[in-house]
Amino acid sequence: MATVLSVSGSPSATSRTGRLLRHLDRRLAAQGHEVIALDVRTLPAQALLGADFAHPAVVEAAALFERAEGVVIGTPIYKAAYSGLLKSLLDLLPQYALAGKTVLPLATGGSTAHVLAIDYALRPVLTSMGAAHIVPGWFTLDKDITTDADGRVTVAPASAAALAEVTDRFSTALRGRTARLAAAG
Ligand SMILES: Cc1cc2nc3c(=O)[nH]c(=O)nc-3n(C[C@H](O)[C@H](O)[C@H](O)COP(=O)(O)O)c2cc1C
Repeated sequence: MATVLSVSGSPSATSRTGRLLRHLDRRLAAQGHEVIALDVRTLPAQALLGADFAHPAVVEAAALFERAEGVVIGTPIYKAAYSGLLKSLLDLLPQYALAGKTVLPLATGGSTAHVLAIDYALRPVLTSMGAAHIVPGWFTLDKDITTDADGRVTVAPASAAALAEVTDRFSTALRGRTARLAAAG
């Protein structure tokens, strides 16, 4: 099917955003996509904060973006916007690193006051990076994401249904993209 890069932009070691993304990665993989997980927090802080475009880890991350046909961008909402960690990576990528790609934006947050942050904060950044198609995203309340002792992630039913829907729409968009490219030869 397609290669999907699934990027979590949370700095937290026990990130709900990260857990949610890895949970959705399994759904995408079950639909036949090759899913590559990238937790921005695993990249060297020195390279991110020092704008070290040539650092091997940054070059490798940029190559993952280049290779992907679909990109899931997940971020916690901090101070009414995406995380600074996510932005520190996006700022090191080429201007049009999302050109031709299908993108699924996702956010987690503590308050419904910022449920529109995907649209007013994240979406313009993704557009400026040339994303070909940004499918509808979803904001999930942090309290709706729980993890049991075995590490199994559960999402509250209302959010789970919406997340399944946006994930499946992303998957369908990727399939359409692959079919169009195949038809174009
Ligand atoms: C520094 C900080 C700022 C936050 N600001 C907001 C905010 O403005 N709006 C909101 O809805 N949640 C806010 N939250 C809550 C987080 O977005 C929420 O708990 C999120 O799920 C954390 O994701 P993570 O576990 O992946 O880091 C904030 C949390 C932190 C630590």
